[in-house]
Amino acid sequence: MKKINTILFFFYLITSPTQGWTIDLNVKYMASMCSSCHIPDKNVSDVIPSLVGYDKKKFLVYFNNLKNSNDNSEIMYQIAQGYTTEEIKKLAEFFSHQY
Ligand code: HEC
Repeated sequence: MKKINTILFFFYLITSPTQGWTIDLNVKYMASMCSSCHIPDKNVSDVIPSLVGYDKKKFLVYFNNLKNSNDNSEIMYQIAQGYTTEEIKKLAEFFSHQY
């Protein structure tokens, strides 16, 4: 019986993350997709800018323009189509707070 309780307790821990945790993990996962091209080190590349500490407003404007553009030859255009407005807001928030 004790064993079952222990198992149930761990099951509870695993299956009941708080809202904050879930969002945090999703954003981190999404952001990790970007860092394959946008290397987090600010000093490495000037062709593809680092997103560390990227201005939130600039980020939102940039993605909004991509979403409304017809230029589907751009790399970032293709990427932008894969994210909802809500997800883009979370990414903007995430990168702007990264140092
Ligand atoms: C396949 C490589 C690649 C991936 C993956 C990628 N990007 Fe980009 N990104 C670029 C390139 C190249 C540019 C340069 C702008 C252009 O397309 O002319 C760019 C430009 C940007 C810019 C504008 C930077 C500026 O100030 O000029 C932002 C913001 C940005 N990307 C955000 C993201 C985010 C957020 C993700 C992940 C969801 C992401 N990128 C994933 C290649 C990539």
